[in-house]
Amino acid sequence: MATYIVLLGPPGVGKGTQAVLLAQTLQLAHVSSGDLFRENIKNQTELGKLAKSYMDKGELVPDDVTIAMIRERISRPDCQAGVILDGFPRTPKQADALDAMLAEFGGQVNVVPYITASEEVLVERTSGRWSCRAQGHVYHEKFNPPKQAGVCDVDGSELYQRDDDKKETVANRIRVYFEQTLPLVGYYRELGRLVEINGAQTMEQVTADLLASLKKLDKRPLSPS
Ligand code: AP5
Ligand code: MG
Repeated sequence: MATYIVLLGPPGVGKGTQAVLLAQTLQLAHVSSGDLFRENIKNQTELGKLAKSYMDKGELVPDDVTIAMIRERISRPDCQAGVILDGFPRTPKQADALDAMLAEFGGQVNVVPYITASEEVLVERTSGRWSCRAQGHVYHEKFNPPKQAGVCDVDGSELYQRDDDKKETVANRIRVYFEQTLPLVGYYRELGRLVEINGAQTMEQVTADLLASLKKLDKRPLSPS
């Protein structure tokens, strides 16, 4: 049966960084709603234009288009063994839609690592983040610098700072997170799926904690949804 892992946590806590490492280790697909929107913006699609109008303000893209985009993505063959979901779901409606679509695929949300850190840490991480134009590889000028400033180690493309990492936009993204996404913590906790991870550690320590918590849960029968 496919494995579905939902990475939950505020903006800049390290979901994308950890999702890449987990996907490699566990041989699962990495699906990031934010990356999918940025790809659409780059390709100037209608969805990209719509998403940009929300993302630039630090608001959430409407549920219906976000759900449809994720549904299409996780139906693809590379997701057959399972998926690390990064940034989705982000509202109760998205969580319900995910449960319904996974039930259709014969699966369920297996585990929800909830990565936390203080607002100060989130601001420091987003303000120093640099992402690659070609494929979205993520760096930090202090904590994970590229070998050569401004150039991606992996594919040599240019590094840029995300428009929504401006201080005021990050503040709004954090506010939106508390208002609209935090209810999911209670939802997944009640289902027995939530594991809390301290995100205010080195990247290596966070990865080690994530892998340890997933192993523990593997041995525990999951309650039926
Ligand atoms: P999205 O792209 O998902 O942004 P986010 O959730 O706000 O999270 P980030 O990508 O900013 O942070 P992250 O947790 O991935 O951290 P990262 O690993 O990069 O969404 C953007 C926008 O798209 C939303 O605002 C919304 O408009 C829209 N959207 C997306 N999904 C949606 C949905 N489901 N519904 C509606 N709208 C949606 O790390 C951050 C930095 O810290 C990096 O520089 C990294 O190198 C560094 N770092 C990571 N870990 C560590 C560590 N342990 N120590 C030190 N530095 C670290
Ligand atoms: Mg991310």
